Amino acid sequence: MEKKIKSIILAAGKGTRMKSEKSKVLHTIFNKELLGYVIDALNGTGLTEENYVIVGHQAEAVEEYVNKNYTNAKCRLQSPQLGTGHAAAQAYDDLKGFEGDVLILCGDTPLITTETLKKFIEAHRKSSAALTVMSAIFDDPTNYGRIVRDENGNLKAIVEEKDALDAQKKIKEINTGVYLLDWPRVSQSFLEMDSNNAQHEYYLTDIVKWTIKHGLKAQSFILENNEESFGINSKKQLAQATKILKERTLDKLFAQGITIIDPETTYISPETEIDTDTIIYPCTYIEGKNKIGKNCKIGPFARLRGDVELGDYVKIGNFVEIKKSKIKDHTNVSHLSYIGDSQLGSNVNIGAGTITANYNHITKEKFQTVVEDGASTGSNSVLVAPVKLGENSSIGAGSIISKDIEANALGLTRAPLKIFKDWFEKMKK
Ligand code: UD1
Ligand code: CA
Repeated sequence: MEKKIKSIILAAGKGTRMKSEKSKVLHTIFNKELLGYVIDALNGTGLTEENYVIVGHQAEAVEEYVNKNYTNAKCRLQSPQLGTGHAAAQAYDDLKGFEGDVLILCGDTPLITTETLKKFIEAHRKSSAALTVMSAIFDDPTNYGRIVRDENGNLKAIVEEKDALDAQKKIKEINTGVYLLDWPRVSQSFLEMDSNNAQHEYYLTDIVKWTIKHGLKAQSFILENNEESFGINSKKQLAQATKILKERTLDKLFAQGITIIDPETTYISPETEIDTDTIIYPCTYIEGKNKIGKNCKIGPFARLRGDVELGDYVKIGNFVEIKKSKIKDHTNVSHLSYIGDSQLGSNVNIGAGTITANYNHITKEKFQTVVEDGASTGSNSVLVAPVKLGENSSIGAGSIISKDIEANALGLTRAPLKIFKDWFEKMKK
């Protein structure tokens, strides 16, 4: 078995430029928190034994999110926030006596991938280095820490923009803020940091100099695709990251044989699986975790909100919203419907404007709707959950169904039609 690692995720910073009350790392892309992307990428390596999230700004909310979603992550409070080195050091006590590698990264870089982290860990383990820094090359390296090398090309130091000499500012290789430390050899550096620099902060980057000073090797691992180091500091960057993530996802789907008619207006979350020959029509928005079968037609203007599972040959048409529902083969929800917390069988036909009334706004409870194979709802039906429509049952148009309908039956609630003759003439007088 491969040696496990522990990781430190820095997430205490204020994120001032987000102009938000909310912690930066709790902002979402496709309804998933930035921090979630980072922890998932780490856990995806199968090597993380424990993740320490350093929290400060909005600490309680971040801790609640972490505790609710991750069993192998714990929060450690950094207060006050005295820099990245000081932040990482908040996990020092937890790591006492740990014999493996410690990975450090930031909670606001949702584009980092498991594949890259695996390569990074492998590069470190193959070398004799005590410290490996992930670097990237940028045409415009402004604001990043620069990777400074000696005459032999060996890593010498990381210099922050504010401390850099003019010549150093021209360096295009930057520090992405991801590090791997051979903990037994480098842990002492956490106790020997100082804040003698332009920002009077404890810089985590100083561990490079410490490593070299103690006769150990420090190296850099250059990121192939520098996009992965993209950190979110503003709402504009959040939108840019969303776009990158969606393009990555669409590229993967194209390669798997999915037809996406208009990639520009189609948004699909990375956690959506789609099977071959399914067609996604324009202006479709799919967030969260979903599974879509073969030969389905989705959209135009469809919205899947997560935890949606569609069989094969399912049709989800325009202005249809689906949430937390399972829909079996050959079922159509073709127009203007809301299906939430539901199980639809196969060969079901959901008429235009059918709504599952699944939510009690007073008790905040959600209820299930079950529609068995071959059932059909007429246009503008309301299914008041919890409710079940039996096999091959029918619902008449405009009905409000608040009781179970047995198999093969027709359910109908409808005020009798009244016809007033010559109405037009009478009204004119
Ligand atoms: C840091 C690096 C820089 C690198 C850049 C990559 C240092 C000194 N500099 O700079 O070399 O190019 O990241 O993006 O490390 N944080 C805390 N507590 C603190 C301060 C920061 O938890 O006291 C967290 C922030 O929430 C953030 C991360 O650390 O997630 C990085 O902090 P930030 O202030 O953005 O560092 P940079 O100045 O960008
Ligand atoms: Ca930053």
